[in-house]
Amino acid sequence: MNTPSVLLRDRWLRVVFGGGRPSHADFHYLWLRHNCSQDLHPLTRERVIDASEIDERIAPKDAWIEGDSLFVRWNELSARVSRFPFEWLRAHAYAAERESPALPETSLEPITLDARDFDQPTLFREILVRVERFGVARVVRFMPNGDRARPEDTELIVDSLAAAGLKVIGTHFGRIEDLRVDNTTNQNTDQLGYTDSAVHLHTDQPFLEHPPTFQALHCVAPAPRGGESFLVDARALSAILRAEDADAYELLRTVPVTFHRKQRNFEKVLHAPILGEDGPAGFRVRYSYFTLAPYRLPFAQMERWYRAHRRFAELVRDERHHVRFLLGAGDFVFYDNHRMLHARTSFEGHRWLRGVYFDR
Ligand SMILES: [Fe+2]
Repeated sequence: MNTPSVLLRDRWLRVVFGGGRPSHADFHYLWLRHNCSQDLHPLTRERVIDASEIDERIAPKDAWIEGDSLFVRWNELSARVSRFPFEWLRAHAYAAERESPALPETSLEPITLDARDFDQPTLFREILVRVERFGVARVVRFMPNGDRARPEDTELIVDSLAAAGLKVIGTHFGRIEDLRVDNTTNQNTDQLGYTDSAVHLHTDQPFLEHPPTFQALHCVAPAPRGGESFLVDARALSAILRAEDADAYELLRTVPVTFHRKQRNFEKVLHAPILGEDGPAGFRVRYSYFTLAPYRLPFAQMERWYRAHRRFAELVRDERHHVRFLLGAGDFVFYDNHRMLHARTSFEGHRWLRGVYFDR
């Protein structure tokens, strides 16, 4: 007999019974609260509450095991504490021995370079291995031309990735994007990336039939204030969505939405689902709140669609799932644009990042 325990997740908890069968079982918060024994009539033991009377977002303030029971203190005004004996939980377990997909990896060890024994082939091989595994790799202080970051270092990154088998993909911005407010080198700069505003999690170029597979973002000059980067692994989160809300997953995988990029001198429209299996590695996410055209779904499906989308967006926007860092001068990130969403916070002052897209 091991020590029983309880593990809290967003909408459900897992009770590990500490011995016997099932060894663990998962229960939604709503289900537990709906089955609280305090809502049984004291004489007849009939339930005196309808599930619709319970707030959909009910969650524990706290949960613990005492003896052979689970106790939950709810986030309701009454701060009710419910008790669920293990025997009762076992008898009513609807998700016994359930396996849950792993949460996304959020600790991102940077690859650090030592300028003296700088070895590009090894470095770039390492980058590709990490991107395969984690979706993203971060390199700090890439300054092969001296002790400060220079725009020409971007070309070395491009050459090295080309030597590793990747090819540069030009877009309607040009070959390399100079992401700076005072941009003079790119076309079609009338979009958020060239401002100092926050850009929340998204994938790039979702309106293209084949969005670029990878992006390198190379920092020449960080902002004096703000401009933090963060990414999230949409592949890991879609596995969670599939396991926790199969209907929402199915809608995101099958309902086409319209991505409409309209700039002064560029326009592109594409109808495609948000989640797909058509990426080169069997997964592709298209996610861009700022290029979505108004939805045109049948009236009877609109609310269902918004609910499904929100369920995924909540996973995506949950900060506990993010990899967060500040790119310093000479740092760069390289990530899989079919798998990872990326974002930056707003900033003040001069900031200069250079972006390049690649395919295999
Ligand atoms: Fe972007």
